[in-house]
Amino acid sequence: MSLERGRIWKRIEIVGDIAVIPIPFDFEMNELRAYADEVMGKTKVKSVWGRKRDVSGIYRLPTYVHLAGENRSDTIYREHGCSYYLDLRKVFFSEKLSYEHKRIAEKVRPGERVANLFSGFGPISILAYKLRKPAVVYSIDINPYAYYFMMVNVELNSAYGVIPMYGDAFVRLNQLEPLDRIISPLPERDREAYELSMSRLKPGGHLHLFAEVEANRDEDPVSKAMASFPGAVEGRVVRSVNPGKYHVILDIRKNT
Ligand SMILES: C[S@@+](CC[C@H](N)C(=O)[O-])C[C@H]1O[C@@H](n2cnc3c(N)ncnc32)[C@H](O)[C@@H]1O
Repeated sequence: MSLERGRIWKRIEIVGDIAVIPIPFDFEMNELRAYADEVMGKTKVKSVWGRKRDVSGIYRLPTYVHLAGENRSDTIYREHGCSYYLDLRKVFFSEKLSYEHKRIAEKVRPGERVANLFSGFGPISILAYKLRKPAVVYSIDINPYAYYFMMVNVELNSAYGVIPMYGDAFVRLNQLEPLDRIISPLPERDREAYELSMSRLKPGGHLHLFAEVEANRDEDPVSKAMASFPGAVEGRVVRSVNPGKYHVILDIRKNT
């Protein structure tokens, strides 16, 4: 196996019965297809897709290219003991956020009224409900496919306290009662989500805000983000987006 192939092999993701290969900028498609055939031969996956690094649009979707096996991108993916039906080409998916899904879900307390503003196919909402038994988790998404998959996933996991809601979270949140906890996993609209969430939380409520922050080499991205969102009590870097730009998750408490 060449050095280049070894590098890609390490980054391959298995999502249910589908293998996803992040497409490097400098790779020939023919070589990638030959590599995908090799993946089909060495694993039990039914289909192999390449994923470009071009996440765009309000649904936050990258471009997928079919490389080998069945021409299908829907599958059942398991994460932290829950099962999720999803289509990689229709809804946002990132296995790298799996740690964050669990970390946030575990913060939820029994009996709480929770809203997840940008819930995708439901990986935080459903896990939080199964682990911590809140009274309700309103799960909003503007992508109709995310709403559809969330409904299926409520059934798949018998998570009947998760209420899927279709539409713009900046409108739908105003239609809900005051909440104990709000989850906001959309770093690109951090400031608006922060302002609205703080106005919709009960006093003493909690906000889990994904924020985007620019920091140079002398600056700590977490301290910088915490300083710009009053009430932040904890933070950690989720990923580096590009040099000098980071996605940070902040846990914020509303005091009054
Ligand atoms: C980064 S994804 C997070 C999905 C999910 N929390 C996860 O970890 O898989 C952001 C989601 O926000 C949704 N979205 C974007 N703008 C929205 C809006 N104004 N209202 C509701 N959902 C929105 C997108 O469709 C997408 O599913």
